[in-house]
Amino acid sequence: MSAPLRLGIAGLGTVGIGVLRIIRQHAALLAARSGREIVISAVSARDRTKDRGVPLDRYAWEDDPVALATRDDVDAFVELIGGDEGPAKQAVEAALAAGKDVVTANKALLAIHGQALAEQAEGAGRVFRYEAAVAGGIPVIKSLTEGLAGNEITRVMGVMNGSCNYILTRMESAGLSYEEVFAEADGLGYLEADPQLDVGGIDAAHKLAILASLAFGTKVNFDGITLEGIDRVSIDDIHAAADMGYKIKLLGVAQKTGRGLEQRMQPCLVPDTSPLGQLEGGTNMVVLDGDAVGQIVLRGPGAGEGPTASAVMADVCDIAKGWRGPVFGLPANSLTTANPARAEMPAPYYLRMSLEDKPGALAKIATVLGDAGVSIDRMRQYGHDDTSAPVLIVTHKTTPDALNAALAAMETTSVLSGAPVALRIEAV
Ligand code: NAP
Ligand code: HSE
Repeated sequence: MSAPLRLGIAGLGTVGIGVLRIIRQHAALLAARSGREIVISAVSARDRTKDRGVPLDRYAWEDDPVALATRDDVDAFVELIGGDEGPAKQAVEAALAAGKDVVTANKALLAIHGQALAEQAEGAGRVFRYEAAVAGGIPVIKSLTEGLAGNEITRVMGVMNGSCNYILTRMESAGLSYEEVFAEADGLGYLEADPQLDVGGIDAAHKLAILASLAFGTKVNFDGITLEGIDRVSIDDIHAAADMGYKIKLLGVAQKTGRGLEQRMQPCLVPDTSPLGQLEGGTNMVVLDGDAVGQIVLRGPGAGEGPTASAVMADVCDIAKGWRGPVFGLPANSLTTANPARAEMPAPYYLRMSLEDKPGALAKIATVLGDAGVSIDRMRQYGHDDTSAPVLIVTHKTTPDALNAALAAMETTSVLSGAPVALRIEAV
């Protein structure tokens, strides 16, 4: 058997401790599968005195993750600190500069600095792996780069933030408002330290940016993503969408179109009978379309100690086995700069509005839609309260430009009570 692969692990929180546990519990299995032992030389975290539920006395300790990353007895550096700047980035750069391979679960770091880090890693002839950065325990990076290597990928789509999916499904099942479920999720520790990363769609957009690069051979472009979080999704919309046969999901979509690379992370309606529509709680789902394979659906836990550490260990084992390859599936210097799509592909839209109860109100809305070239597919009106009536409309496919023109014109009709809600309906 070859010499052991010696790890330095920075970050002993949820994921770091999960990695330690797997290495301790499955040492023999990992060695058999990798052809060499996987051992930990040294670890790093902020607080050396914290009881982490796993004995650390057999590992050397470094207060400074950069010192850990450059130790002579470390072959591969495992970064599990988090954040796109600061110690995580410094330590990863130092590890690559010192000739170490790197494994990380840090989607923020990759989404913002992925291209520069890939160039550094490949320039130094090092391996840089990140299976855990997207959709936790789901092996989506390997699926794209290895399992689907024979395909031209046409679309990547998915629910990639468990906290948002938990909030949206809990709102529906308990009939609670966004604010009530947000407070509940925060209290249960389901949200990031900065909850805006979750509910603002940023965390999921980081993941989408990484997948888009892998799928389309383009440089990671987080800034090119059209981004909207879930904080404006109301329980009224969840109920109304359900009544029309849909669920609301924070959905990421990346696809190459004739208009450029479209990357969107936004609340969308999907059919309630589709796999995405049936996704409950904190689970993630990634749907990949390839020209040869057709469509595959990957579903599984997107976060948590075991699932995330499981993905980290897949990368560690690959390094132990001698896997070599470019960071984003193609050499970093061959990745292209994609033109962001000038406009989104046409889609049907869901509209919810409250119409004043007076003659001709509905006719005015229908006229405005017709004038903008937006065709109505289905419509439903509910009972009036004293002054207004809720109306739901599902349009035929239309462009966002036409829809926005119709929404602007509606404001001038003086038959609306409050602003209409418009959500895209995604074909899944
Ligand atoms: P976490 O529980 O907050 O742990 C972070 C660890 O980093 C802690 O042990 C902390 O030390 C250590 N740390 C922070 N600053 C440090 C510094 N300057 N020097 C050394 N150590 C430092 O985070 P996590 O949930 O394990 O997440 C780690 C990474 O995995 C992040 O990039 C995250 O986005 C990613 N990820 C997490 C999940 C998940 O389910 N948690 C899923 C997918 C990806 P102390 O413990 O001493 O404070
Ligand atoms: N906050 C993230 C989520 C953690 O809810 O999916 C995993 O990236």
